[in-house]
Amino acid sequence: MWMCRCLFLVMILWTASIGADPVRVAFGSCARIDLPQPIWHTIASWQPDVFVTLGDIVYADTEDMTLMQAMYAQMDTVASFRKLCSVCSVYGIWDDHDYGVNDGGASYAKRDAAQQLFLDFLKEPADSERRKTPGIYDAVYLDLEKRVQLILLDTRFFRSDWVKDKVTQMRYRPVYDTEKTMLGDAQWDWLEAQLRMPAQVRIIASGVQVVNDTHGYECWGLFPLERARMFRLIRNTKASGVVFLSGDRHFAELSVMDGGVGYPMYDLTSSGLTHTAREGHQAPNNKRVGAAFNGFNFGALTIDLDGDEPEILLEVRGMNTVVPMTQKILLKDLQF
Ligand SMILES: [Fe+2]
Repeated sequence: MWMCRCLFLVMILWTASIGADPVRVAFGSCARIDLPQPIWHTIASWQPDVFVTLGDIVYADTEDMTLMQAMYAQMDTVASFRKLCSVCSVYGIWDDHDYGVNDGGASYAKRDAAQQLFLDFLKEPADSERRKTPGIYDAVYLDLEKRVQLILLDTRFFRSDWVKDKVTQMRYRPVYDTEKTMLGDAQWDWLEAQLRMPAQVRIIASGVQVVNDTHGYECWGLFPLERARMFRLIRNTKASGVVFLSGDRHFAELSVMDGGVGYPMYDLTSSGLTHTAREGHQAPNNKRVGAAFNGFNFGALTIDLDGDEPEILLEVRGMNTVVPMTQKILLKDLQF
């Protein structure tokens, strides 16, 4: 009997220790099929629980769906990527090049067909709701306890056209136009419902940057009313623990701002799995924390909710064991 009780106690302690494991989230964007892809080995070595692609997993840039399908198929045969897929779950959203057109939005003619091909690549089941509704947005819990929520936004399918900037020679300019939308009505309604779900940490993935708005390239800041709506929604739903992830820029950086939410809005950008901008070619960013990084990179979140002080460790990680950026955020600092 004593042996049985001891065994039972050991099993309880073992089960508890499983629950105490931090959740490890890797993410990244921008991989060209015609370039070497050793970074998948580095990501797998970090032993993530999940990998989230934030877009440009291929550079299709086409309305030829046969060509797009072939590019996804080719990506799917990259041995290092397949290895990563075998050791962790893979989630994702698209950005412009895997959506099908550079800087593309709702006016892209093949968006419905592209949605099915993208979901094929992600191995989304044939009967998934994600296939039946327009757009690829989705949300999942990353832990059994449902404390860590991953919200995947679609900033392409419904997005209004940007407005060219003819004055400053920047690519686009911010417009205060109530007709412009980033997410579309249905996705906004869905997002509100997601933010009202219980969670301690909410990772919101966006293809384009949410916080950095100083460069004139694609970002939420080009539609300031839409970004304000996002922050207002977080505040009104009392959704604590939000951290944004973004890609697109071909370098990595951490940005933070006071969006009037009640706690700081962090946006960790990782871009450049196989190619990056030249050193020193990061656009200015008055919301950047620390330095940007131009080497090949992926983002890494270690979410530890069971320590004395629940925390999220944000990292930009380069090839092999290079860690050019580390920022610890205490969960108590992401509360109202
Ligand atoms: Fe890209």
